[in-house]
Amino acid sequence: MKLLRLLFIFLSLPLFAQQGGMWIPSLLEGMNETEMTNLGMKMTAKDIYDVNKASLKDAVPHFNGGCTSEVISNQGLLLTNHHCGYSQIQSHSTLEHDYLQNGFWAMNLKDELPNPGVTATFIVKIEDVTTQVMSGVSEAMPEADKQKKIEENIANIVQTSPKEAWQENRVRTFYEGNQYMLFVVETFKDIRLVGAPPSSIGKFGSDTDNWIWPRHTGDFSLFRIYADKNNRPAEYSEDNVPYTPKHFLPISLDGVAENDFTLVFGYPGTTDEYLPSVAIEQVINTINPARIAIRDAALAIQDKYMRADPQIKIQYASKYARIANYWKKWQGETLGLTKSNAVGIKKQQESQLTSQINKKGKQQEYGQLLPQFETYYKEIEPYALAREYFLETVIRNVELLRTAYQAYQLKQVYENRGAQSFNDRRNNMVDRLEGEYKNYSKQVDKEVFEALIALYAEGVPQQFLPASFKTMNAQQLTENVYKNSAFVDYVSLKNLLEGDAETVIAKLDNDPGFQIVKEMADAYFEKVAPKYEQLELNISGLERDYMKALLELSPKDARIFPNANSTLRVTYGKVAGYSPADAIYFEPVTHLEGVMQKYVPGDYEFDVPQKLIDLYRTKDYGPYGENGKMAINFIGTNHTTGGNSGSPAIDAEGNLIGLNFDRVWEGTMSDYYYDPALSRNIMVDVRYVLFIIDKYAGAKNLINELKLVHPKKEKGKSKKKK
Ligand code: ARG
Ligand code: GLU
Repeated sequence: MKLLRLLFIFLSLPLFAQQGGMWIPSLLEGMNETEMTNLGMKMTAKDIYDVNKASLKDAVPHFNGGCTSEVISNQGLLLTNHHCGYSQIQSHSTLEHDYLQNGFWAMNLKDELPNPGVTATFIVKIEDVTTQVMSGVSEAMPEADKQKKIEENIANIVQTSPKEAWQENRVRTFYEGNQYMLFVVETFKDIRLVGAPPSSIGKFGSDTDNWIWPRHTGDFSLFRIYADKNNRPAEYSEDNVPYTPKHFLPISLDGVAENDFTLVFGYPGTTDEYLPSVAIEQVINTINPARIAIRDAALAIQDKYMRADPQIKIQYASKYARIANYWKKWQGETLGLTKSNAVGIKKQQESQLTSQINKKGKQQEYGQLLPQFETYYKEIEPYALAREYFLETVIRNVELLRTAYQAYQLKQVYENRGAQSFNDRRNNMVDRLEGEYKNYSKQVDKEVFEALIALYAEGVPQQFLPASFKTMNAQQLTENVYKNSAFVDYVSLKNLLEGDAETVIAKLDNDPGFQIVKEMADAYFEKVAPKYEQLELNISGLERDYMKALLELSPKDARIFPNANSTLRVTYGKVAGYSPADAIYFEPVTHLEGVMQKYVPGDYEFDVPQKLIDLYRTKDYGPYGENGKMAINFIGTNHTTGGNSGSPAIDAEGNLIGLNFDRVWEGTMSDYYYDPALSRNIMVDVRYVLFIIDKYAGAKNLINELKLVHPKKEKGKSKKKK
């Protein structure tokens, strides 16, 4: 018995190492397919991606360029996250019909709501075009010439590669310029809202629970793809019909258990898995602390006013959530990078690479890479820090500065492109700002301004500060701006922006809000940006060569996956709990009991709708419950990042079991370093989605469209027969 157990541990060790990675779906045959099979997958690589036959990829479109979605019926029904459909749900909401508050359910096709501008993009084909992209590019060419030739070649491939009239060719780089892939894609443009739970289900736990496990959120919404009568993409039209997909995902009613195989398929946005240790140290010690401190200050002020004033509460809810999302993520990231000793591990990998370089006699080619990284990262640090302050203060967190910065760009548009462009952009801006100022509180913004300007004066290296920052303190700067600037309310700003370009610009130049942004932006663009960009260019050249060295010199079985770049990827793993600290172990599945334990009546984050409480009391879970319990969320070892929101979690046979929507606090460092002990993605159990649609909303019409299956029970049966 003991021996067997030992053998088991021994056998399962390499499995654990086979984790992390976001793989290109057209290149799974070989190592990935073997690993997936070892983890329990019953499909082949071709079931996931095939050009000639329907495969899983045909059910997984990019949702509106940012999130992922999946087709779950033969009538183009589309599942994604509540937070991915949030602004569409909001845009259809009014005080009388508040779909964010109460949810929305279309009981027939006629009730489905169009969303102009929203898209769903399918991948038709992926092809390696590295040779064509690199043709005529030689090592000896200067960097700028190389880039120019590469861009020409890409333009040519996009122009000439075969595709249908309604399709599009896109070329994307992988492995930092060491590989290029062509994507033929198809974009649908008539995407209608079909269903959304109330926020008390779809956003349950809100910011407090964001990036946190254990989690209890029903983060889903439903849309439908419409096509023209030939089943092709078309702009919105009443004559459009539900899209017939090449493939849609059957849905498993059998649920998940620890160690079950999971495959997450979607469009991860950006990762940086191959940064040298110096870069990670900079993130931990310099960049993240600055970002976090700035947002600490901004959020504390917003929160104070939101708690005191229900009007401000509504005005700032969505802005607060946006700022809080990455504020919280960066803290988890720093924690995880530290906990997992990412810097130490990277240093170890670097010394291994160095000895490989020496052993293979590649010192000439690669010997200088790591020392050069050191040099450049040291050199870029003050510039990177100043840039972070500029972005966080001017672009992201002070509303007046952001708006004034748009005016700064408007002035440049006039100088560079003339009066017509100026007018178009100005009119656009005036329209857009009307909506933004409805959610603007001068009082809140003023206090944020003062706090952030004080941090700016302190945190930005002196040589990059604008002149006024040396003659006035934060309080004086604030009084000057908020007493006299037109940017503090919509009417005065609209007046300021009236007139021909010369007049508007004269008025802008006299406005203290504009003046301060101009000073800050001029200082940034003169003293920081040029040097920063030059060093960044050098660093990305190094990254390309470093990647080349890694690909060339790593052991044959090294698992080197390309960084995320918003293209379709497969990540596989298994359902697994984790231990974030001594004596703490998190189980991998949460239940409705946990919703009730977190329930705070009337609270904006933890209220629970009465109907859900009733269903809980009567245990009316239908076929979606298991042993008298309703599963809500589960975690797995799939390597995901922003953009994987809404990604399908798929079982060993290709059925939908869940919907990806987040990662755990200690594991968000997986954008830099994936640690199988700490990194977990968070998914909604698809049975909870079905339960809400069926039992909570009573939308049987939608349930009837789905293909519900019992893969585990089927297996049980066939075993018994034998
Ligand atoms: N953390 C998830 C993501 O990065 C969910 C964000 C939406 N929810 C929120 N409370 N802000 O997008
Ligand atoms: N919530 C994220 C998104 O919107 C996914 C979570 C993550 O970053 O892993 O894409």
